[in-house]
Amino acid sequence: MLVQTLVRVSPVARLSALIVGTLVVALPAVLAVTQASKAQSAPAAAAKRTMLVTGANRGLGLEFAKQYQAAGWNVIATAREPEKATELKALGVRVEALDVANAKSVAALAERLKDQPIDLLINNAGVGSIDAKKAQDIDLAAYEHVFQVNALGPVRVTQALLPNLRAGKGKQVASISSQLGSIAGNTHGNYYAYRESKAALVMFMRSLAAELKSEGFVCIAMSPGWVKTDMGGPDAPLTPEQSITGMRKVFDGLKPDDSGKSWYYDGTELPW
Ligand SMILES: NC(=O)c1ccc[n+]([C@@H]2O[C@H](COP(=O)([O-])OP(=O)(O)OC[C@H]3O[C@@H](n4cnc5c(N)ncnc54)[C@H](OP(=O)(O)O)[C@@H]3O)[C@@H](O)[C@H]2O)c1
Repeated sequence: MLVQTLVRVSPVARLSALIVGTLVVALPAVLAVTQASKAQSAPAAAAKRTMLVTGANRGLGLEFAKQYQAAGWNVIATAREPEKATELKALGVRVEALDVANAKSVAALAERLKDQPIDLLINNAGVGSIDAKKAQDIDLAAYEHVFQVNALGPVRVTQALLPNLRAGKGKQVASISSQLGSIAGNTHGNYYAYRESKAALVMFMRSLAAELKSEGFVCIAMSPGWVKTDMGGPDAPLTPEQSITGMRKVFDGLKPDDSGKSWYYDGTELPW
């Protein structure tokens, strides 16, 4: 029809008709492609999840930041002294100052992160304790510090960031515990402060899981295995890469019924 009409009219009119005709045919296709690419990029941007990990300037925290960034997440990584966190800053993730044992530092972080939804919180920051073999050798000041960081730190941070977690879609909270925090697994004693602080942390996660279940949260304690870091030492069998890869897989597969449990990095459940 278009061809028959063009034969009967002048060359200028034919050219104009061709341009208009081409536009009529091509425009919907161009619009469809544009809309399709918009439709692809909108969910991609919306799907970008945000995680926050504490104690990320070295060890397991640094590896968490690396792997989640590589997986396309928005990463907020905390360090006590961000200016010295060279390796972490080089990743290009958002670095925030945080001392989990300091209530003011935690409140200041929550203020800076106001209105920032968080899908996954990993309470990773922790300290080891001197191997006290006998109760009478326990240094109570050192004991208290271990508690302030390992047991109360995750409580402070979770409490302060609960509005952010409620605003997020992921609704996952994981606290890095330890096999040494397992009551059933304690057949040798030692490490008084560390064991007790991690057992307290596991109990906090259990209570949190019960409280937040109706809101769709999954809250777990996660043992990373024995890993080569400053804390784990050079004889540890696992590398941070192996441990974090395993833990991320566990986080990815968590279902509502998994909440409140204590997990090992390889996906097995740890006894209390
Ligand atoms: N490595 C293992 O074999 C192993 C086994 C079981 C459990 N874990 C647990 O895994 C977590 C990470 O351990 P890791 O092996 O990576 O230890 P790490 O290499 O010693 O690193 C500990 C991290 O925690 C931070 N931190 C310490 N006190 C803090 C505080 N008051 N506020 C904020 N951050 C603080 C440190 O920051 P600074 O650099 O500023 O000190 C550092 O970033 C800990 O909870 C630990 O108990 C580790």
